[in-house]
Amino acid sequence: DKKQQDQLKKEAATKAAMMVESGSVLGVGTGSTVAFFIDALGKRKDEEGFRLKHIVTTSNRSKKQLEGLGFKVDELANIDQADLTVDGADRVDDNLDGIKGGGGALTLEKNVAINSKKIIWIVDESKLVQQLSGFPLPVEVLPISCEQNFKKFASQGLKPKFRLAEDGKRYVTHYGNYIIDLYADPIPVPAGLADYLDHTVGVVEHGLFLNMCDEVIIAHSDGTIEDKR
Ligand code: A5P
Repeated sequence: DKKQQDQLKKEAATKAAMMVESGSVLGVGTGSTVAFFIDALGKRKDEEGFRLKHIVTTSNRSKKQLEGLGFKVDELANIDQADLTVDGADRVDDNLDGIKGGGGALTLEKNVAINSKKIIWIVDESKLVQQLSGFPLPVEVLPISCEQNFKKFASQGLKPKFRLAEDGKRYVTHYGNYIIDLYADPIPVPAGLADYLDHTVGVVEHGLFLNMCDEVIIAHSDGTIEDKR
C-alpha cells in the first residue's frame, strides 16, 4: 500500500542524504522520493550544521521545498559541475540504466545528470526491472516537428501518444514543447532506441538515461536497503 511504499521511499532517501558531503555541490532531482531526500537534507542542516557550496535542482517543486528549508538554490548555468546528483527514476534495470521523465522534466534532469561527477538514484523496489519496461518512454519534441515525429514513431511500432494535461490539451513542457510517450514495451535494445532518438530532428530529449547512473539505493519491502553499483 501507499503508506508502506512511502516508508520505503523515505528509507532510501534518508540513506542517500547521509552520503552527501558537507561543502559539496549537489544536484537535486524531482519526485515523491526526492521530496523525502530534501526533508532529510534539511534535518542534517538543522542538526549538524551541514552546509552545501551550491545546490541546483530539476524543478520548481524541489526548488521551493529546498528554499522553504533555508537552502539557497543556484542555476545550473552558474555552476561548473555538481559533485553528486541524487534523483528518483521511473524504472531501473540490471545495468543501472533507467527511464526518467514521468514528471515531464527530462531535459533539465538529463542536463543536471550529465553535468554531475556522480549520480545516485533512490527508488523503492517497485521500480526495478530486468529489462526496461512497464513505463512509457517520454520524448520531448518541438511543436514544429511533432506531427511528423509522431507519424514516424507510429510507423516504427513505437506506439506513440501525445501526453495530455489535466485540461485535456497537450501537455506543454517548461520549454514550450510537447511530450510524446512511447508505449513500445519492453524496450528491446535501449541503446539502439536512444541512438535513434538522439538523431531524430525535432526530438529535444528523451527519457532513456543510459550509462549515467553510478549507484542505486533500493528500499526493498522486506525492510532491507540495497546499494547497487
Ligand atoms: C521526473 O520526471 C522523474 O524522472 C522522477 O525522477 C521520477 O518520476 C521519480 O518520481 P517518484 O519518486 O515520485 O516515483
